[in-house]
Amino acid sequence: MAADVLVKNAWYVAGRSREFPIQQLRGEVIAEKPLVIWRTAEGKVVAFDERCCHKRMPLSQGRLIQGGLLECAYHGLCYDVTGRCVRIPSHPDGRIPPQARLRAFPVAEQDGLVWVWPGESGRVETARPPRLPEIADPGWATADTGPMPVPANSMLLIENLLDITHFYPLHDGNIGDVENSRIPVRFEEGTRDGNAYVGTVREARGYRQPPFLEDYLGYDVVDRDHTHFMLSPAATRVEMRVWPAGRHGDARFERGYVIVHTHTPIDRSNHIWRLIVSMPAGQKCKSDPSRSAVERFMETFPAVIAEDRWALEKQQQMFKYPDDGYVEVFLRPDRALRRAREILMGLERAERTVAPQQHYGVTET
Ligand code: FES
Ligand SMILES: [Fe+2]
Repeated sequence: MAADVLVKNAWYVAGRSREFPIQQLRGEVIAEKPLVIWRTAEGKVVAFDERCCHKRMPLSQGRLIQGGLLECAYHGLCYDVTGRCVRIPSHPDGRIPPQARLRAFPVAEQDGLVWVWPGESGRVETARPPRLPEIADPGWATADTGPMPVPANSMLLIENLLDITHFYPLHDGNIGDVENSRIPVRFEEGTRDGNAYVGTVREARGYRQPPFLEDYLGYDVVDRDHTHFMLSPAATRVEMRVWPAGRHGDARFERGYVIVHTHTPIDRSNHIWRLIVSMPAGQKCKSDPSRSAVERFMETFPAVIAEDRWALEKQQQMFKYPDDGYVEVFLRPDRALRRAREILMGLERAERTVAPQQHYGVTET
């Protein structure tokens, strides 16, 4: 069942790098794993089991004290930046039980994002976080929505993102229209950095843009290449490239954007969605050329996000009833989302079996 997928062995986005100032504790639940995360005084982000090894007090409720130690708010056990308990106030003789330590979780910082692996540490070498180079590239102007809690399985968001046939009727009049649903779809899949990816490519010529897109990109009738790819269980990337009709491929006229959606599961019924948009620095909006297109996007696009969140929440609510003869129908453009579902369900199945470990030492392209 689509709304019941939860992959734990994956790199997930805990936030943008700037959301982690030095020495500030943050509690997050990622794929059912409660974590305390912070950036040490040396600038490295670390993640540990959120539960104090003494009596499960959430450690993000504690504080960082001298020497960079994390002090639990309840009985004051102190941990160093390797997760080892180094002080117990009620043991004045200094005795520390050897099992008094926190489980550490792998953290990577890449492309301006903090990634955490909440699954088995021994499997961490099987994949790398997918590359998202535009986010930290000064040649691109970038903005994001911040974390948006969605009361739905993250698979429902991935399916939504791979499926632009919902632009009509869900986004009719802002980013979509019925013509958009009829653009032929090409399907692609493969593996990169240990992550199975799948997506769609839509190439339209002489296409009249819906209002929001005309404003962000400046042209009314365009030749357009539009792709949607699930890069891993954690992120889906949307790329839009447009040219005035008849000028496809002419770099002088190209405009566009990249939207990275991160979908970080909390549990089987909730996830955190982040939308990060990047446009070439200097791209202005059509309705007010004194303003950047990114700024305009952040002002108007929340209306689109609200429509998607509404649909995801409504869909999730329907999963509380037994199927009882209900059969889900797949349409022709649903091929990518069907494949995405198979990939994630396969990953989850693999977590229940002992599989030989693979290592990806190089980036596959
Ligand atoms: S629960 Fe953390 S010190 Fe007791
Ligand atoms: Fe949508």
